[in-house]
Amino acid sequence: MNKKRSSFSGKLGFVLAAAGSAVGLGNIWRFPYLAAKYGGGTFLLIYLILAVTFGFSLMTAEIALGRKTGLSAIGAFTTLDKRFKFLGIIASAVPIIIFPYYSVIGGWVIKYFFVFITGAGQASSGDTYFTDFIGGTYEPLGWFFLFIAFTSIVVVCGVEKGIEKVSKFMMPILVVLTLFVSIYGLTIDGAMEGLSYYLKPHMADVSAKTILAAMGQLFYSMSLAMGIMITYGSYMKKDNHLESSVRQIEIFDTGVAFLAGLMIIPAVFAFSGGDRSALSAGPGLMFITLPKVFDSMKFSGIVGTVFFLLVFFAALTSAISLMETIVSILRDKLGWTRKGTCIFVTVLALIMGVPSSLGFGPLSFISWMGMSVLDIMDFVSNSILMPIVAFFTCIFIGFVIKPSSIAEEVKVTDGTFKGEKLFTIMIKWIAPIFLVLILGSSIANALGFIRL
Ligand code: PHE
Repeated sequence: MNKKRSSFSGKLGFVLAAAGSAVGLGNIWRFPYLAAKYGGGTFLLIYLILAVTFGFSLMTAEIALGRKTGLSAIGAFTTLDKRFKFLGIIASAVPIIIFPYYSVIGGWVIKYFFVFITGAGQASSGDTYFTDFIGGTYEPLGWFFLFIAFTSIVVVCGVEKGIEKVSKFMMPILVVLTLFVSIYGLTIDGAMEGLSYYLKPHMADVSAKTILAAMGQLFYSMSLAMGIMITYGSYMKKDNHLESSVRQIEIFDTGVAFLAGLMIIPAVFAFSGGDRSALSAGPGLMFITLPKVFDSMKFSGIVGTVFFLLVFFAALTSAISLMETIVSILRDKLGWTRKGTCIFVTVLALIMGVPSSLGFGPLSFISWMGMSVLDIMDFVSNSILMPIVAFFTCIFIGFVIKPSSIAEEVKVTDGTFKGEKLFTIMIKWIAPIFLVLILGSSIANALGFIRL
């Protein structure tokens, strides 16, 4: 158990690498389309409330679990209590489901990067460009394979050399560019109406469905409830203050999501002439709206190229964390070599991702409640498995190992844990009760008993 583990070099290294995992397509691609769909300001407000309560408590819990045990999910839960091995196993299943379809979208991002760098950006602003592209067979598959290939190369190189270096310089550039594009977007005619939609909550819009969507998004965006933060915690040194690292990761992650919404939602209003139905475009929103924004800019080719390059990097650091988690779980369990495990995981992800990639074209006949294969994967992991993992994690900490054991781990650095009270109440009572309600309604909805 005490075999030597690679670890992050410094405090900033940990925060940036964890932020690198958290900040990804979830922030730039997923958050804006959900916010657009679920009432703009209403969604934003609910998300923020959940982030400082649920997000904070769960992330603290997971990182502390990892650092305390020095192991990834399955090992961490099993060491502390054998009965909870199952929890580690479900948590580990989540990245295995997400990684393949995440890479499909990562592939779309590389495609758009190539479109812009080769000077064909203007064509991509056409209305059917995106749907035509994802409806194909070989093209989306090719980009998906390429994305997985990049990810595996970094993961094969190992934690210090791979993840940390990549995260350190790309994250800050991404923030600056997003800010720049948002400010530009707000100057387009008609964008102000969109800004108000994005920022003003309307209490009448609050519904179980909105809360469910915000909750799933929170887990996804902060890489929670799937063992990732446990693995990252196991690489964290004891002299890093856990609580302040969690705060920083949260601020960073939420900040980027907020900016991405600011960049996309007002622009949707501007380009649709105020037609609100454009807001429900769903997963394609980023790929449909942004090319139009860029197309209206002076140096559209350069801006589009740089933007998609950075989104690619953000997606890559997240995909790396997904793959790294899977690899580390398999290695802890089976003792395989890093290289062998990486090859195994790569092949598995390639096979599993094919249906998601083809689900908009040749396999579009497969659908469940109007969802494509990719959406089904997304739904199963985010709206079913993650709430289950989060629920049992709360029960495990609240009633088995007790919140005080996590608090102890948080305090190891300098004896402080400011949010301890909030943490304890959240983990023991509020979070589990809320999760059962949310999960119950999500499943009832899926089975058609109720319509959210
Ligand atoms: N949190 C990442 C994002 O926002 C995605 C991700 C999901 C990464 C799940 C790891 C695990 O894009």
